[in-house]
Amino acid sequence: MCGIIGINSSRPVSSTIISSLKKLEYRGYDSAGIATLSNNEINEVKSEGRVDNLENNLLVQKMEGTIGIGHVRWATHGLPNSINAHPHSSQNVSVVHNGIIENSTLLKKFLISKGHKFKSQTDTEVIVHLITENLKTENIVNSIKKTLKSLHGSFALGIIFKDQPDLIVGARRGSPLAVGYGPNENYLGSDSYALKAMTNKITYLNDGEFCIIKKDHVEFFNEDGDKINKKVLELSLEDEKYDKGDYKHFMAKEIEEQPTTLKNGINEYVDTLNNDINIYNFPWKTNEISSITLIGCGTAYHSCLLAKYWFEELTSLDVNVDIASEFRYRKNRFKKETLYIFVSQSGETADTYAALDLCNQNDMKTCAVVNVIESSIARDSKFVLPIHCGTEIGVASTKAFLGQILILYILALKLGSLRKDLKKELFNEKLKDLKSLPKLAEKTLLTDNKIQTISNTFNEAKGSMFLGRGFSFPIALEGALKLKELSYIHAEGYPAGEMKHGPLALIEEGMPVVVLAPRDNYYKKTISNMQEVIARGAKVLLVTNRSKDEVVSENIWEKIEVESANEDLLPFLLTIPLQKLAYYSALKKGFDIDKPRNLAKSVTVE
Ligand code: G6P
Repeated sequence: MCGIIGINSSRPVSSTIISSLKKLEYRGYDSAGIATLSNNEINEVKSEGRVDNLENNLLVQKMEGTIGIGHVRWATHGLPNSINAHPHSSQNVSVVHNGIIENSTLLKKFLISKGHKFKSQTDTEVIVHLITENLKTENIVNSIKKTLKSLHGSFALGIIFKDQPDLIVGARRGSPLAVGYGPNENYLGSDSYALKAMTNKITYLNDGEFCIIKKDHVEFFNEDGDKINKKVLELSLEDEKYDKGDYKHFMAKEIEEQPTTLKNGINEYVDTLNNDINIYNFPWKTNEISSITLIGCGTAYHSCLLAKYWFEELTSLDVNVDIASEFRYRKNRFKKETLYIFVSQSGETADTYAALDLCNQNDMKTCAVVNVIESSIARDSKFVLPIHCGTEIGVASTKAFLGQILILYILALKLGSLRKDLKKELFNEKLKDLKSLPKLAEKTLLTDNKIQTISNTFNEAKGSMFLGRGFSFPIALEGALKLKELSYIHAEGYPAGEMKHGPLALIEEGMPVVVLAPRDNYYKKTISNMQEVIARGAKVLLVTNRSKDEVVSENIWEKIEVESANEDLLPFLLTIPLQKLAYYSALKKGFDIDKPRNLAKSVTVE
């Protein structure tokens, strides 16, 4: 989704802005742009499509200037073309914006009546003209304060001014924004990852705050324009590798990294010496919690759905699951004894953050399961369980999903044991099994060739279905989501037992249907549902786990067997072939696997 970079330096900044924008590409976007100040003029270059296009334009149209802002845009208001790309500029002011201005239509009317001319279809352009208007009577601080007060909605802003050649303004409400500090230069970024190549010294703006970034210092203000002091955080300098290595795509690499994700998670939370789980500083006593509500979006929501089965199985807690965008607007009954768990890879998803904020306002117990520990959701939750899977670049989430479900499973085990819902022997047994999971995932990753051939049939089909019961139902949803995200094939995940209540009507001759039927409690029931779709002409790909007893059905089209494991762990293994199926379908279609059309990695608007 949209990303912001700003640099105030004494050296030319355009090439550094371009390389920082490339770091933000993972968020998903459709156009890019840059503006710098030189010779008392604002220069602006924008391009549709990738940052590479922008870079090529800059080869022709050289850009000077030691102060500048850059942006990658994911269209909300107006088509994804170069006119609507950011920055948006008047003669005096240039703005990059993440978020949505909800009262832009009203503001635009007012500004047009004052003689302002608009060039784009975006909501952002009203900010440019509002600041320009306010600057007629106010100084910088007051014009920004006044402008921000007029805006409804969410924003992170980077602003430069023709008549202020030594500063960049940053402002935040709802969308994340960070300030970075370098040697004789300072930065603005929509996340610290984009700034990481330049600095590990970061200050995050809170909602309502704005800042003035000069080369040698940064001033912060609250929404009333009063100066405030903010802490500088030193982020870890741990050098992560973001290159694809020998892989064609980040997604392929991230799928293969999953055994390491599992190993890291287990090493972090499992205390092998004492045969226990370490969750340090958990702020609540177990008797203070009687229910859990899990909240997320997209793949993270599927993690929540799966976790419900584990929490119900391993603890006596009541468990609810919610989609963040629904939760935030419902009339919720907040309960003191509920633990609200927010699951998010990025930790910046706008709806998940808003749901967290709502819980915090109601003084609830909030816990985040996130990958990015510097993220807004992590910072504003009362307790954080990091998933430690390293940066995930592919827009379609893979290793973060396995990381999330691992941590949720570990938490369910720990709460089950603390509450004495889970007997010590069973806890020990499950912990022992868990330690073997990375190896089992490694072996399951080897089922490659067959899936490549199978993916041809999916590519030729009009649509497909993914069925499962119990633990396998959320995995069916996740498998269908992966296929549609990457290969744009219509795919639906369904509880196998619900087929008779409608979806069976969709089954026609040759339709590929993935049936997840591991040897668990639901196995026999799922196999019956499988027969029902076979009888109606479906081509069934059965995904199960290796076992001595063969599945008896002559009519199964293809079968993939994952490694065998205790029932709780099978969802981890079943996920892997489904990720690969989606990957190979998209690969054969020649689609942009790491950046599927219309999608974004970090969804910072609601
Ligand atoms: C986007 C991504 C998905 C992700 C979802 C939630 O839609 O493309 O892969 O599952 O956002 O993101 P989060 O960062 O909150 O897990």
